[in-house]
Amino acid sequence: MFENLRALKSRTKARRITDLFDADATRASRFCCETSDMRLDYSKTQIDDDIRDALIALCDSVALADKRDAMFSGAPINETEGRAVLHTALRNLDGGPVVVDGQDVMPEVLATLARMRHFADAVRDGALTGAGGAITDVVNIGIGGSDLGPAMAVLALAPYHDGPRCHFVSNVDGADISDTLRGLDPTRTLVIVASKTFTTIETMTNARTARAWIREGGGDPFRQFAALSTAQDLTADFGIPADHVFGFADWVGGRYSLWGPIGLSLMIAIGPKAFDAFLRGGQAMDVHFRSAARHENMPVMLALIGLWHHQICGYTSRAVLPYDQRLARLPAYFQQLEMESNGKSVAMNGSSLTEPSGPIVWGEPGTNGQHAFYQLIHQGTDVVPCEFMIAARGHEPELAHHHRLLVANCLAQSEALMRGRSLEDARARMAAKGLTGDELERQARHRVFAGNRPSTTLIYPQLTPFVLGQIIALYEHRVFVEGVILGINSFDQWGVELGKELATSLGPIVDGAQSTEGKDGSTAALVDYVLRYR
Ligand code: F6P
Repeated sequence: MFENLRALKSRTKARRITDLFDADATRASRFCCETSDMRLDYSKTQIDDDIRDALIALCDSVALADKRDAMFSGAPINETEGRAVLHTALRNLDGGPVVVDGQDVMPEVLATLARMRHFADAVRDGALTGAGGAITDVVNIGIGGSDLGPAMAVLALAPYHDGPRCHFVSNVDGADISDTLRGLDPTRTLVIVASKTFTTIETMTNARTARAWIREGGGDPFRQFAALSTAQDLTADFGIPADHVFGFADWVGGRYSLWGPIGLSLMIAIGPKAFDAFLRGGQAMDVHFRSAARHENMPVMLALIGLWHHQICGYTSRAVLPYDQRLARLPAYFQQLEMESNGKSVAMNGSSLTEPSGPIVWGEPGTNGQHAFYQLIHQGTDVVPCEFMIAARGHEPELAHHHRLLVANCLAQSEALMRGRSLEDARARMAAKGLTGDELERQARHRVFAGNRPSTTLIYPQLTPFVLGQIIALYEHRVFVEGVILGINSFDQWGVELGKELATSLGPIVDGAQSTEGKDGSTAALVDYVLRYR
């Protein structure tokens, strides 16, 4: 499938990215995509016109446009679960009808959104109180997509917070809920149980612990609990009143669910108006994805760049490096989005993949990462394509000098990765320090940067709700395009099931109620150790 691209790759062997700039003064403007306000610069990669054309040709070979339209129109493209994939409907604020199984889902989506706004306003303005008065704190209990999205976005949009404080509990490790609840008032805390299935063991264990904490602390679990779930029978069994339950359909995947009820904590934090702006950002990216020509299409090009680096160049991981402290949780969010979606070994039709599936995604905000793992990025033997992100301006005008330094560092890193430092340059520097002979040579070699390392930069005016919405939708569609080209179902996650099953069967063994018979020697020995020391 990728022969043509592999041939083009071999042509790049002796070429430096800087040669491409030397040969084409317009490269920066020709190898970038723009929306109304964001710019994705991919000129600091080896992609040239021929490579881009060959990458774009892949889209035709897999009928990408038809598959994209099938997703937006509600076709059951999640074939292993027989479901539509319609998180886009959740942000379809003023789009037309979206029909699933002969029924327009938009009236229900918009009605739930209206109920969320009403509920969020009631929490924010004190109309909904706890046993001890107005709600001061909201604790979202969820895991995976029911945690990472709202936790990431609440932090990202901190400058817009004007509601109660929001906290997130995800881990079944008691340390998480214990540390989070410490210092909160059980009579003025709202607990939101976020779980699509309402069966996830971590979430239900934490939810029961929170309920006991509220009850024992004099709070009112009935008033102080809300649920976000597709399983309304189970939320009722848990004792959550129907008017505190916000449902959604099974066509919203967990890692794509921030746009609907799972975003309730975000809406409470920033208010319904700012949440609408977030949805509009996502919707704007949908419009761009559906209408922009492929070489100008940001999600399409981002996917193709990723494919070039992973499947063709063989770079096994990709670093997401937001120069934005408030995007600290974005790499973790993208890890789930990309790795749970495209970390597969079989194609949609059940055959084994013949090409590598999605890459390992990791990262940290800059500039912190520079003082930790950038050493490997610059001088390690593995090439790691870097995806930088930066706002033109921050939210702290009084600290504009901080932002100038942040921008300078971000741009410096992509320049350094591309340019590198030659041995001659390193030698000259050592000579200027007075070194000579073998010592000069030895020291110089440690100071060489191979350079020619690829990166992209996504730049936006400021991290507003609208911009964040665009960024999230951009990456969602990128994952979709990658999945279509690889022939993967990006919307199931069977790979998480085996561990869940084994954990359930290990429960009574770790309790000491059942023997380790039948377990492998390693597992049995580890259980013995736990039983000895607990
Ligand atoms: O175990 C993986 C997963 O199913 C994710 O896909 C999902 O986001 C997470 O667990 C939480 O699931 P739920 O929202 O049903 O509790």
